[in-house]
Amino acid sequence: MSEKFSLIIKNGSCYIDGKLIKTDVGLYENKISKIGKIELNSSKVFDATGKVILPGIIDTQVHFREPGSTDAEDLESGSRAAVLGGVTSLFEMPNTNPPTANLIEFEKKLQAAKNRMHSNYAFYFGATPHNTEQLAQLKKVEGCCGVKLFAGSSTGNLLVDKEADIEKVISSSDRIVSIHSEDEDIIKLRKKFIKKGHVHSHAEWRNVECAISSTRRVVKIAERYNKKIHVLHVTTKEEVDFLAMHKKNVTFETTPQHLTLYAPDCYDKLGTYAQMNPPLRSKEHYDRLWLAIKNNIVDVLGSDHAPHLKKNKEKEYPESPSGMPGVQTIFPVMIDHVNNGRLTLNQLVNLMCENPCKIFGIKNKGYIKEGNDADLTIVDMKKEVTIKNEMIASKCGWTPFHNYKVKGFPVGTIINGNLVMADGKILIESKGKPLQF
Ligand code: DOR
Repeated sequence: MSEKFSLIIKNGSCYIDGKLIKTDVGLYENKISKIGKIELNSSKVFDATGKVILPGIIDTQVHFREPGSTDAEDLESGSRAAVLGGVTSLFEMPNTNPPTANLIEFEKKLQAAKNRMHSNYAFYFGATPHNTEQLAQLKKVEGCCGVKLFAGSSTGNLLVDKEADIEKVISSSDRIVSIHSEDEDIIKLRKKFIKKGHVHSHAEWRNVECAISSTRRVVKIAERYNKKIHVLHVTTKEEVDFLAMHKKNVTFETTPQHLTLYAPDCYDKLGTYAQMNPPLRSKEHYDRLWLAIKNNIVDVLGSDHAPHLKKNKEKEYPESPSGMPGVQTIFPVMIDHVNNGRLTLNQLVNLMCENPCKIFGIKNKGYIKEGNDADLTIVDMKKEVTIKNEMIASKCGWTPFHNYKVKGFPVGTIINGNLVMADGKILIESKGKPLQF
């Protein structure tokens, strides 16, 4: 029988059913068509000797600033950064200007993404106190991964802070509601803790109580209505302990920043570049997040890629905006943590490939198996790289991981059957497609 392949990946160690198996992988058009020994010689062969082949890495939280602040990022530049970092699919956030909070803006974003994005993509629909009717009809909207609810204010003007409105959003949405969980009343009350020029006070202002109070509230609402919610960028040990006991309706994310940087060192070293919401916190929180990773209590890792221009980040605190880029570094930083023994490769694949598909219902991705979409991340587990601002493809041009050394690095990104990135170079432009749910 003659077999036809558009690309063959030979001699790699493939992550299949939780194990690394030495085998070839044949791709035909946008699908994985064969796993096993392939004798055929074709001009399109990727020699993956000594490399690890993972299901395509999925980043479920990025902010790409289009429309509104395209000087800091746009859909093209952000997704370019993603594929350079080994990310094959991403979920982009609605806190743009104008926000993606009605069907017209959503459709405009889908159109803007068409033939411009390097990775595959889906977009969040922003919740407001007034758009619940639209939230009830999102299942049929192409390219929509879910609803984003800001319970506390951050970048942009999306906010649903009153309990009755949060309840309305969670109870009426026909998709999972992902939540920026900080309590707006506490944010307002504690403004007196902001110390002008002292970014160390950021975590004092938006303190532990601010996070856990909101998280308790949204979890109770989800349980009351028996709805699924996803709590984004969890940062406190109090939330970890609470969420561990409330897994039925709730999944949650943490970020590589919160697993790698902690206060006060991060603020001593990075100043306002370390400012984000919810904040980087002290080591006891970082330690508990790692314990939660170890015990498989965290469901997903997201970068919360939130680029801001240097000239704005360098303003005096609290004029400096919150957020840091991360879509290009999430995978290198986490694979380094695998090499350091902080988590296993299986745990990383669960967090960044399998669980995003299970939780959000992404079709045909997350696993290397025949018939699935041909999205693969190829990794050199031994490659050592010092991350530098100069490597960052995001328009913001900086990273909190400047001069951070990693062992393990993505050397190939395959998207919809195309080798889009090899050895740090983009080979084919803009082949991304909307994800199917
Ligand atoms: O620090 C943050 N920056 N947290 C968010 O939730 C939003 C983000 C942004 O868009 O800048």
